[in-house]
Amino acid sequence: MFYPRNSPVSVVITDQRLTIKYVNTGFEKATGYLSGDVHGKHLSILVFNPEHRDMMTRAVEHSLLGEPWQGQVKYQTKDGDTRVVDVVTSAIFNSGDQVTNFVAVSRDITYELELQSQLVNAQKLKALGRLSESIAHDFGNPLIGIRALLKDFDQRLELNQQDTHLLEIAVSECNRMQTLIGNFQHFYNSKRTFSTPCDINEVLNRLVFFMQKTLLTNNITTVIDHTPNLPPTKGRVDQLEQVFLNIILNAVDAMADQGGTLTIATYSEKDSICAAISDTGQGMDEQTMRQIFEPFYSTKPEVDGTGLGLSVSYGIISAHNGTITCRSTVSEGTTFKVFLPVEAHTV
Ligand SMILES: Nc1ncnc2c1ncn2[C@@H]1O[C@H](COP(=O)(O)OP(=O)(O)O)[C@@H](O)[C@H]1O
Ligand SMILES: [Mg+2]
Repeated sequence: MFYPRNSPVSVVITDQRLTIKYVNTGFEKATGYLSGDVHGKHLSILVFNPEHRDMMTRAVEHSLLGEPWQGQVKYQTKDGDTRVVDVVTSAIFNSGDQVTNFVAVSRDITYELELQSQLVNAQKLKALGRLSESIAHDFGNPLIGIRALLKDFDQRLELNQQDTHLLEIAVSECNRMQTLIGNFQHFYNSKRTFSTPCDINEVLNRLVFFMQKTLLTNNITTVIDHTPNLPPTKGRVDQLEQVFLNIILNAVDAMADQGGTLTIATYSEKDSICAAISDTGQGMDEQTMRQIFEPFYSTKPEVDGTGLGLSVSYGIISAHNGTITCRSTVSEGTTFKVFLPVEAHTV
């Protein structure tokens, strides 16, 4: 039989009982397993997780009918890397129409899939850029008017307790919308304001002051642990405010069910200053953590989450030559850290 020895695709050939008779160097390179590791073993040794078992059965069934089977399979290499391959399997029949071998040919498509998802993200961002410009203008201005009116009612009218409460809800909903519009604005126009030296403690204190009511109504205790006299960073204050607002609002959402503690610490580390914002909320599993910075990724019900907060924050912090990191444990809580270069080191 002819063996496709140096092919860039990986090839596995078995006999009719699914005993592995041949793997090419492409297979060895792709999986990290050598021919000697698998030769003479049953094909099920390549079943890397339970769902593959079903796939293999289907592949064999199809092949026996003389129809090739095609599918995408995710597997782990010997080194623990996760890869995705596009597999085609087929059976080889002898002149008496009996199956003599099965052949599986697979091509690594991990990189293609990554590119595809980056492209989809880029397209989403572009479309959003156009849309957001009009939303920011057409919704933002009336909203400022509505909020001013509500505040005016609050000050001028003698309202009973229930109506005061309703008015508070209306104002806080306006604030939520304003945050959202802020996120939209930062998508289409990141250079709206000037970069100035700024004191991160001051930015955070101002935010916490504005959010006092929201924090209290959600039974959240706030602990401020600032290092005094931090060196200034250089940045666009409104954008940095938006980042911390997004992170704190997420922390509030994560603790909304049973309250908790919000800790805001600042410190300097090498040439950076860091703001660490921790909550004692529901936390995240690994799968969620991997996606939180993607535009439109949200685990919240549609009315509450747009999935823009963290992707906008990521963009803003990158534009400030900083980094943003996240650590989280399910049921225990989450810490976001924002690192920004001290002023002398920013461009
Ligand atoms: N402090 C946090 N605790 C738990 N999950 C969080 C926290 N911050 C962010 N997340 C997760 O990240 C997702 C994306 O956040 P974000 O971009 O702000 O969008 P949104 O808040 O609109 O859902 C959230 O839906 C949530 O699943
Ligand atoms: Mg959010």
